[in-house]
Amino acid sequence: MSTNTTNAYSDFHLQFIAGEWQTGKDDSTNTNTNPYNGDTLVEIQQATKDQLNEAYDAATQAQEAWAKQTPAARAAVLYKVVNILDQRQEEIVDWLIKESGSTRIKAMVEFGATRAITLEAATFPNRVHGEIRPSNTPGKENFIYREPIGVVAVISPWNFPLHLTQRSIAPALALGNAVVLKPASDTPVTGGLLLAKVFEEAGLPKGLLNVVVGSGSEIGDAIVEHKASSFVSFTGSTSVGKHIGELANGGEHIKQVALELGGNSPFVVLKDADIDQAVKAAVFGKFLHQGQICMAINRIIVENEVYDEFVERFLSHVKTLQVGDPNDQGTAIGPIINQKQVQSLRDKIDEAQKEGAKMLLSGEINGQLVPPHVFTEVTREMDIAYNEIFGPLIGIIRAKNEEDALSIANDSMYGLSSAVFTADMQKGLRFARGIRAGMTHINDIPVNDESNVAFGGEKNSGIGRFNGEWVLEEFTRTHWISMQNEPREYPF
Ligand code: TAP
Repeated sequence: MSTNTTNAYSDFHLQFIAGEWQTGKDDSTNTNTNPYNGDTLVEIQQATKDQLNEAYDAATQAQEAWAKQTPAARAAVLYKVVNILDQRQEEIVDWLIKESGSTRIKAMVEFGATRAITLEAATFPNRVHGEIRPSNTPGKENFIYREPIGVVAVISPWNFPLHLTQRSIAPALALGNAVVLKPASDTPVTGGLLLAKVFEEAGLPKGLLNVVVGSGSEIGDAIVEHKASSFVSFTGSTSVGKHIGELANGGEHIKQVALELGGNSPFVVLKDADIDQAVKAAVFGKFLHQGQICMAINRIIVENEVYDEFVERFLSHVKTLQVGDPNDQGTAIGPIINQKQVQSLRDKIDEAQKEGAKMLLSGEINGQLVPPHVFTEVTREMDIAYNEIFGPLIGIIRAKNEEDALSIANDSMYGLSSAVFTADMQKGLRFARGIRAGMTHINDIPVNDESNVAFGGEKNSGIGRFNGEWVLEEFTRTHWISMQNEPREYPF
């Protein structure tokens, strides 16, 4: 599992277009920095729209032959990718730490999830299947074919860059599609170029995977609107997601979209819960990756009878968390990805205090290191409760009873993930089914992802489902073909 440093990947200053590593031709440069110490990791000359066109042309050309390859041949490439990921685990984890500010723990979680979805995708070429359906028309046979879509556009975020990119590109490629990918500007390596190196080493034919590094505000619209793709897989903020949804289905286009957007996960502690276990879960589910996870706990809602006890134990656990160098094994909270996000957290801290929340724990913000901030006596309409935080701040809300807890939990425009703690599984199930979200975990954290289970949200958290057969449907198109085996009688 160790990496031989002599063959570590290099040349991350180049774009990967049409199977070639080439210099970006735009005047602008992406300076990729380490969010912990500010070191420059690589400078990438960004891509122009002409280079984007080149990527789409190459993808369109390569896709047809790829779709015709045997399922075994496509699966073999994905299995090879898994092997390479294993061989280069240390190198990949190192990049996740230095480029995305992942702690070691988070980098390992992300590596594991990336490996799992690649392994799952390797089964897709042989799992995808059509159907034969009966017909009420005499002499007719109905066949449902499942075909590749063609070229898929993928736009991914910076928080779990490796996994959230691979979660789209591995299934898309396995199912016979080609991909044009734009990683987030904060993580061009772990969100794209590193995976391109892995797929190239695994023998993926040229042109099937293109990584175009450029700013979302500059080339984002062109990626979405390009006529060569009929499907856009976007993971990121709700505001950009809405824009992409409108763009993909406005003007000249009607395109399919998968939108995985923001969240506001409630974490509910009912009065009969195991408080110790709930506290451990709440701390991990809130502070993993500094809270920069779409499924991270955004509100803790505790039934009145156990509120004070929960707050006290939660606070004492949070105070033990080490904040600092993400490379250090003992660090629980590393840096925030960029200064813009740090500023948004400063604003949220100010706003929470203005609105009357009680700040029980705080600390000095040092560069991009934001220590945990805990607020109590938070109410559902306060900014820190109602809007997505994306950082290590948390408000704890008091609920009068179970019914009130459910009403607070559902008082959100988001519906991604959620969690409830109780000693009574039947009660937990009833509560879980009352939550309007794509995912609810009983006696666990809302941050969960399994490569074989439906992942996704509703309301402003997006549309579409990842993983297992759900993504298999997402990245294929359905084609009904009927065969009229005997002349049909028509009324006129
Ligand atoms: P965004 O600002 O939305 O960025 C996501 C991606 O969209 C980046 O690659 C970005 O490129 C690109 N982009 C920006 N403007 C664009 C445009 N006009 N057209 C096309 N692409 C454009 O989000 P973020 O700051 O990276 O991530 C934080 C948000 O994402 C949070 O709200 C979080 O909840 C959500 N998120 C959701 C999930 C799931 S699974 N639901 C997972 C992770 C994150 P640049 O980087 O070049 O601007």
